[in-house]
Amino acid sequence: MRASGSDPIREAARLLAERRNAVALTGAGISVESGIPSFRGAQGMWAKYDPMEYATLHAFMQSPRKVWEMLTEMVSVCGFASPNAAHKGLAALEGMGVVRAVITQNVDGLHQAAGSRRVIEYHGSMEELICVHCWKRYLTRERWTPGAVPLCDCDEILKPNVVLFGEPIPWLAQEVAEEEARTCGVLMVIGTSAQVSPACDIPRIAKESGAAVVEINPEETSLSGNVTDIHLRGSASEVLRRILEEFSADEETPSSPSHKIK
Ligand code: OAD
Repeated sequence: MRASGSDPIREAARLLAERRNAVALTGAGISVESGIPSFRGAQGMWAKYDPMEYATLHAFMQSPRKVWEMLTEMVSVCGFASPNAAHKGLAALEGMGVVRAVITQNVDGLHQAAGSRRVIEYHGSMEELICVHCWKRYLTRERWTPGAVPLCDCDEILKPNVVLFGEPIPWLAQEVAEEEARTCGVLMVIGTSAQVSPACDIPRIAKESGAAVVEINPEETSLSGNVTDIHLRGSASEVLRRILEEFSADEETPSSPSHKIK
């Protein structure tokens, strides 16, 4: 790898190459370039739908048809999306033995579609629907049709198997994610505003356990400047492309001193 100098991307690539046990924590920002809007900000979902009215378990139990107005948009948009260069870049880093797991707050399945193998779905997945009455589960693509509210065989309205506000994080996902955070060498925090608990605790857990925290986000977040060690400002696809370029440059210059770092 080339000398990092003052280039933060090179510095991040060097850390990733040295430590080889990175974990990524991703949020809605990584899927923006796949055409899926993020939640916060002027164009975000929560500018259109008040999350307290449309995204709580209580709201779903009280008025599932109203909540499905928002869910219909999410399911449609996720159904048409395909992974972008950032999802593919993370999958490539996993294939190279640099990244060992992805913890995602996203429910769109795009990390798996890009080829990532160890994906911890912290907020569940849109792929599945569940009946909150009889607990029967269905594949969304087999049960949902655009414009219709999906029903269980018992006639109750189905809920996507995602975490709504007021629901706990799936126990295993939370345990495994925290263990990954405690034991990784680098935590890459990509495309999240880090405003939702307990996901926003993961960077702090990693940092307190000795990991370097590399943030990829065009904007400042509550992590930048305190938990974050290196902030790479830019879109996830562009920054990951440049990180991968650093690895290729390393392969092309075998005499470079850092090439020995494994
Ligand atoms: P947010 O919408 O809160 O934040 C998205 C972040 O992505 C922002 O910090 C943007 O600056 C950044 N961003 C935008 N475009 C980007 C790009 N091309 N590359 C990199 N970063 C980019 O989304 P999350 O932090 O994921 O939970 O939101 C967390 C949780 O809040 C979601 O999982 C969802 C939501 O309410 C539940 O519904 C339980």
